[in-house]
Amino acid sequence: MNNEKLTRDAIDYVSELLGKNSGGHDTAHSLRVYKNALRIAENEPACDMTVVSLAAILHDVDDHKIFNNENNENARAFLTDKGISAEVIDRICNVINSVSFSRNRGKKPVTLEGMIVQDADRLDALGAIGIARTFAYGGEHGRSIDESIQHFYDKLLVIRDELNTDTARDIAAKRHSFLEAYIAELKEEI
Ligand code: NI
Repeated sequence: MNNEKLTRDAIDYVSELLGKNSGGHDTAHSLRVYKNALRIAENEPACDMTVVSLAAILHDVDDHKIFNNENNENARAFLTDKGISAEVIDRICNVINSVSFSRNRGKKPVTLEGMIVQDADRLDALGAIGIARTFAYGGEHGRSIDESIQHFYDKLLVIRDELNTDTARDIAAKRHSFLEAYIAELKEEI
């Protein structure tokens, strides 16, 4: 299996399906999650890089907020087409299914690859990018600024304490402080 070609094809597939979805679950998000996952995986030599890479890139292709399908239909279609074995496809899909914040509240992924990709996705909800995505998603769903700010407390600010890996915790520290500083500034202005 040529991993580089596979990775590129997976990215093309994501662009076809997600394009520039304005709510923050777009191709650019998938690429950032992939990049975060590679960064975390550098310090986790025991992980399976093929599973980590493909799960990170494909993690939103069956997102329930965008698609109405079951059993990782889009991810499975791509991976099957690429001749990936059924066993590896199941492992990738299990990782993808451990990523969603709302569906996995308080549940730790059972595999190292799941921990890495879950952390990679959650890091993208923190810091400057996390703020941008929160308002983009809020606007798309008709939420007021106050309602979007509530999302900071419900999700963004609890992420730091729920991360799985030390590498993600290191990256999160600065992004978390930035969120707190942003909220403080916002309160002062209001
Ligand atoms: Ni995501």
